Amino acid sequence: MTEKEFLPSYNNNLPESGTVTWKAPSNIALVKYWGKKENQIPANPSISFTLDACATTTALTYQKKENSDGFAFELHLDGKPKPDFKPKIEHFFTRVEDYLPFLKQYHFTINTSNSFPHSSGIASSASGMAALALCLMEIERQISVKMDDDFFKRKVSFLARLGSGSACRSIEGDLIQWGSHNNIQNSSDLYGVPYPYQVHSNFKNFHDTILLVHKGQKQVSSTVGHNLMHGHPYAQTRFTQAHENLDKLQSILAKGDLEGFIAIVESEALTLHAMMMTSLPYFILMKPDTLEIIHKIWDFRKETKLPICFTLDAGANVHVLYPEHIKDQAITFIQERLVMHCEQGHYICDRAGNGAKKIVSSTV
Ligand code: DP6
Repeated sequence: MTEKEFLPSYNNNLPESGTVTWKAPSNIALVKYWGKKENQIPANPSISFTLDACATTTALTYQKKENSDGFAFELHLDGKPKPDFKPKIEHFFTRVEDYLPFLKQYHFTINTSNSFPHSSGIASSASGMAALALCLMEIERQISVKMDDDFFKRKVSFLARLGSGSACRSIEGDLIQWGSHNNIQNSSDLYGVPYPYQVHSNFKNFHDTILLVHKGQKQVSSTVGHNLMHGHPYAQTRFTQAHENLDKLQSILAKGDLEGFIAIVESEALTLHAMMMTSLPYFILMKPDTLEIIHKIWDFRKETKLPICFTLDAGANVHVLYPEHIKDQAITFIQERLVMHCEQGHYICDRAGNGAKKIVSSTV
């Protein structure tokens, strides 16, 4: 597949106006995407669980305008204007314009809201860009002669990637792989695909309890973060390692090997942070409470032999991962021993989910 597949093939029979609404979830990477090339091409392949509770709902209202001079849109978060998000959307529209040529024909009102508080330190770019891409593709679906569901999802993922890399893993569930890999059939740098191999029931309904250690703005934006991998002394080794970890995961996922899973997932999280600590400039994004939590998880695992582990994104919050069959013990442990490390005791109970959902669509 190449980008050309996504160039549109419809006539100019555009509806006057309408509204579409989609809800898209966030996702948590097991093998991390960290480092990218031109045009949002990942430096290495990644895989993630799509989440369920953490999600963005976006209603996109479109109204034909008289000229097609430029992009015209306004953006509201939780009903309030959000002008500081505009440059990111403008940039996204510029990147996807060739693939969605109707963009300049409309004035858009984007009404968006997150299920998690904006100040929780949880990045909304994956779910936000996925929801917006879904709404835009819903318009394209209305004007296309025929479009099958697989193409719809593939193009949404392709567009979402151009907004934010990890967003391409937020369309479907529950295990999504993105980035070309020799041993993963149909894998692509251009979009995410449902993981195509056998997955043991141990990995169904996997839980992710997100401990909000540090709320507020990310210390390092993802753009700055990914750029740190250019000229990084360990970059090539890291990219190779991601390919190898995906190879190892294949039999781990098939066999239900929770021990093997934990080893890869925790190593990936610490490697991500090691990359940040060893780049120039360097960053430490973990907080003392992040480390306390990690040590307590390790101690608890040793004591109980229960398969509970952690992963991190590019911040101080900890994602505690565990299978369905230990959920009662895990939640008791989290409440009794980990929640004390969260800012204001806040945490979010999430789990692997099935992907985005259409809420409503109407045209005039
Ligand atoms: C650490 O997808 O936020 O969460 O493509 O610049 O928008 P951009 O980056 P983004 O990076 C996510 C990085 C990560 C790891 C991951 O989700 O794989």
